Amino acid sequence: MHISIQQAVDLLQGGAVVALPTETVYGLAASLNNARAIEMIFELKGRPRNNPLIIHVAALEDLHSYAENIPDEAAALANAFWPGPLTLVLPTIPGRIPSLVSAGLSTAAFRIPRHPLTNEIIRQVGPLVMPSANLSGKPSATSASHVESDFGQSFPVVDGGLCQSGLESTVMTYDGSKWVVIRYGAIPGEQLAFVLGYVPLFASNINKAAPICPGQMYRHYAPEAHLQLGGVLRPDQSIIGFSNRTYPVSNRKFFLGRDDMPAEVAAQLYSCLRAIDDAGVTDVWVDMDFPRQGLWNAIFDRFTRAASAAEKNNKD
Ligand code: TXA
Ligand code: MG
Repeated sequence: MHISIQQAVDLLQGGAVVALPTETVYGLAASLNNARAIEMIFELKGRPRNNPLIIHVAALEDLHSYAENIPDEAAALANAFWPGPLTLVLPTIPGRIPSLVSAGLSTAAFRIPRHPLTNEIIRQVGPLVMPSANLSGKPSATSASHVESDFGQSFPVVDGGLCQSGLESTVMTYDGSKWVVIRYGAIPGEQLAFVLGYVPLFASNINKAAPICPGQMYRHYAPEAHLQLGGVLRPDQSIIGFSNRTYPVSNRKFFLGRDDMPAEVAAQLYSCLRAIDDAGVTDVWVDMDFPRQGLWNAIFDRFTRAASAAEKNNKD
């Protein structure tokens, strides 16, 4: 059910959960000050409680109410990329963040999103927690109708059109000497290097008991269909591919966009994964012949995790 900005503000202030558009993907929003609404987010999504939420703020200064010992370059990164698809994980002032939001960690994730409707709502309501507005494990939502297909036609959503980037924010943290990327996202490392002077490395969850990015432990972005990443294409398989490439005529095709337009591919990725299930297709071959650089790294990451059968029961 589409709602206005004013209705979203009233619902959030009254302790409800609503879906809001951002430049990355749609988010399921609750006020940071409403414990019951935050609980409801975990219930609605079926999200594990050890997976912390991102706090969306209106201004850089808001960080000082929640975070301390903020590394020097955090302000430079925020000034360069906020409002926008960069999330910074920072040490928090004890007692300021509900433990359900931070999953009991001594850090929390922050960003200023870039969507005029949602930024206005944050200005009126205050900080909002917002995970992606999809059922846990499923592809994220990049349109209001994706949200309605996961949470029902009567679920309140502010329709902000199609999400511009279509991939979640890049999540970074400071390891004591350097910034590291802990989730690939809409801002590629090469762009971060303009501020940092180096391309930040990707830090994976080596210690499963204390993961550096809990969400990365889970299967995510996954359609019901089986995805085969490259390899030998069978005649009975459908194809996820690029619109400017040629594939065997007998196979059913789902196009992501051109192979020289990674931003276009990123923007269509989740729609494409959802369209496969909507079409009842069960076995898909994915054309993985694309570069491993820039935005392609995030696209590669999403396909890899969407195809990961090993962690099928571990959902984000
Ligand atoms: O683009 C986005 O970031 C979207 C829009 C709605 O803002 N939000 C989003 O939230 O993708 P979610 O909950 O789907 O993903 C948040 C990721 C998870 O992988 C989570 O584990 C990680 O951020 N995260 C949150 N707090 C963290 C923390 N304190 N330390 C490490 N990772 C954290
Ligand atoms: Mg998510």
